[in-house]
Amino acid sequence: MRKLKNWDKKTWLSSKNYILEFNKFLNKKVKFNKNTTILDIGCGRANIISALQKKYKFKNQPIGIDIVANKDVKKNIIFKKINALKYLKNKGKYDVILIKQTIHFFSKSNLNRLLSLSKKSLNNKGKILIFSLKTNNNKIPCFKKMRKNLEKSLKRDEVLFKIIKKNLKKITYTNFNFKVSISKQKYVRMIKERYISCLLNMSNKEIQFGISEIKSKYKNQIKFTDTLKCICYRK
Ligand SMILES: C[S@@+](CC[C@H](N)C(=O)[O-])C[C@H]1O[C@@H](n2cnc3c(N)ncnc32)[C@H](O)[C@@H]1O
Repeated sequence: MRKLKNWDKKTWLSSKNYILEFNKFLNKKVKFNKNTTILDIGCGRANIISALQKKYKFKNQPIGIDIVANKDVKKNIIFKKINALKYLKNKGKYDVILIKQTIHFFSKSNLNRLLSLSKKSLNNKGKILIFSLKTNNNKIPCFKKMRKNLEKSLKRDEVLFKIIKKNLKKITYTNFNFKVSISKQKYVRMIKERYISCLLNMSNKEIQFGISEIKSKYKNQIKFTDTLKCICYRK
């Protein structure tokens, strides 16, 4: 499978407003202070922990890990290019472990490993925060084949949620909603760049076909709500 490289490259997911809203949401779950230690699993360009570092000036810079090292990863955090399962064996301890839009990259057994290792890597009263696309009535703008792939992946996510519930047990659920308004031109560029994993395995022809479908289906400004389910575990 191709690797996901353009998810947070100049998309709404890397916009100032999104990061601000997301971090406000996080702050309701975790009372950050200078001593908070954070690990972001599957951090991408590390926009989220970088903004947190700017705001809270943590004594220990947050650590972001990813199997892809993008050129423009933020510099005010510690980035490591490593598989999460390998990294978590190094016995570090954190107050917050963030796993945002990353669980779908794991097999069922590896997700169980990831969760068990994450629990062991938490400080007392530490939290694991898992974010994943909402699975029912998801509003991400899609062309037909993309919707089919996305629905398949969301069905699998529901199985992953059951694994999470079984492994972590005492968890709470909330939703993070972000209102997106994006020009069709920009969204077409995101699709061309295969911003979301349900596009990774499509042929160039399928992508081109899908783009013409998007062009005829949507108005010049595309508006929708991007909703993430947040699963919170506290040690
Ligand atoms: C959809 S992106 C989300 C990026 C970021 N968390 C965000 O929400 O903006 C998922 C990220 O997980 C990374 N990833 C996938 N499998 C991984 C693994 N086993 N260990 C670490 N990172 C992984 C991918 O390379 C990708 O950057």
